[in-house]
Amino acid sequence: MNIGIFDSGYGGLTVFRDIERLLPQYDYIYLGDNARAPYGPRDFETIYHYTLECVNHLFDMGCHLVILACNTASAKALRSIQQQDLPLMPAGRRVLGVIRPTAEVVGNYTKTGSVGVLATRGTVLSESYVIEIAKSFPDVNVYQQACPMWVPLVENNEHNSPGADYFVEKYLNELLAQSPDIDTIVLGCTHYPLLINKIRKYMPDAVQVLSQGEIVASSLADYLHRHPEMETRCSKNSQVQYYTTESAADFDDKAAIFMGKPVRSAHLALEV
Ligand code: DGL
Repeated sequence: MNIGIFDSGYGGLTVFRDIERLLPQYDYIYLGDNARAPYGPRDFETIYHYTLECVNHLFDMGCHLVILACNTASAKALRSIQQQDLPLMPAGRRVLGVIRPTAEVVGNYTKTGSVGVLATRGTVLSESYVIEIAKSFPDVNVYQQACPMWVPLVENNEHNSPGADYFVEKYLNELLAQSPDIDTIVLGCTHYPLLINKIRKYMPDAVQVLSQGEIVASSLADYLHRHPEMETRCSKNSQVQYYTTESAADFDDKAAIFMGKPVRSAHLALEV
């Protein structure tokens, strides 16, 4: 059994990179729904429908443990899949997200008790971070900022261009204007680590930026440790397969930048 990693596009690679680094022994299948990215501006029903379709493809490919390495899909689709869909499927299938593991540790980093979350509009509107952080750290104040231009900048390979500076500075200023106490920032979208150099450029030095990839990777390691029934089913040949719903050649070019090594993907045809 391979472990499935899903994202709307390339962003999940920033999480997968850390998962592969921490847990290199397992076999993985990465699926990016590049044909329908970005998910961020889409409504609940659409994101749920797209995510479920991709999760089902991963299940069909033998990945009975799937990580939604996408905050938007975790915010908008995870609960419905866990509560409505999985109970109707054969037993032993699991889908995990990235928001809860991040929310469970964020309060350990802030000294002021004020945390900023940068995310897609869909994730912000879902209030998932606010709700999940409150469960673990009821005294932490959460300030959210939607950054609708950031995913298109990354998906269009413009994240290092001078034009990107304008939108990085704009959204950071809008977040920091909400409270002078923010000392910790969550990049609540897996695409955003690609903008990290520009984010650091416009962020006061005292503000720390959490690495969601590392947090999710150690949470997966912990999950597998606590669930030996799942862990023993995972094959361990250190093999990775990549699939994209768009052009495989485009995916390979771009994914190589994210992964820092050559990537060979295959095209996965959607039914729609
Ligand atoms: N990478 C996804 C996330 O973590 C969203 C990107 C998109 O809008 O498709 O939220």
